[in-house]
Amino acid sequence: MAERKPFVGGNWKMNTNRTSGSDLARGVVDGLLTVDGVEAAVFPPFPYLLTIRSILRDRGSSVRLGAQDVYFQNDGAFTGEVSLAMQKDCGVQQVLVGHSERRHVLGEKDELINKKLRTVLEGGLVGVLCVGETLDERLAGHQDIVCSRQVRTGLAEIPGSMIDRLVVAYEPVWAIGTGKTATPQDAQDAHAQIRSQLSRLYGAELAARIRIIYGGSLKPDLAADMFAQPDIDGGLVGGASLNAGDFVAICKAAAAAGKSK
Ligand code: PGA
Repeated sequence: MAERKPFVGGNWKMNTNRTSGSDLARGVVDGLLTVDGVEAAVFPPFPYLLTIRSILRDRGSSVRLGAQDVYFQNDGAFTGEVSLAMQKDCGVQQVLVGHSERRHVLGEKDELINKKLRTVLEGGLVGVLCVGETLDERLAGHQDIVCSRQVRTGLAEIPGSMIDRLVVAYEPVWAIGTGKTATPQDAQDAHAQIRSQLSRLYGAELAARIRIIYGGSLKPDLAADMFAQPDIDGGLVGGASLNAGDFVAICKAAAAAGKSK
């Protein structure tokens, strides 16, 4: 049994509506009722958090409720932003930080991402720090430098005492929503680099406890091979998480891989 419990997150992005999101949540909950050995979370759009929370609660599910982003201030004149306090009030347990669409579409920089991650971890929730290189960066052979910078700056001023609430998602930008996936070996190499970076920051013992998950066009047929890699502890799933059957299959693959590691 792996010392790191596999983690699978379903990032719904700006998809679903109240009805389809509810159906999706019910499908995920029902599909995972008898599955153990995996920590599963769904990340619906903000307006549906309360609706999805009541579905998870009513069915006594262990599926966690996540948010796709957060602002680092507690309250005040920040039009359009949502604070951690508000999210906690809605039952959020986990928050994505620094997703590549926030970095590359919305222009978020490492320093802002660090403030957000500190807010989440200091607030006692699980923070999923997303890192990953663009296609140009990979073609230039810079993937390790980029991921290393994103991990280092993302984790600035975050003490080891909070690290058990950290999950790192390696999501090569060129693989997100494109249908292209990293090979399991390429992903494993990137994860191993990230773990050694974490080890330099926090020591080997803490680094060995941090879950590093893969994201980028993850589908059920690829999941088992990915999760069999020693440093791949689960996945962050976008497109395939909008289909309950596919998401459940990926969660099951993670649970099975965790049991055989
Ligand atoms: P994808 O998205 O599975 O659709 O590539 C992954 C993500 O962005 O988290």
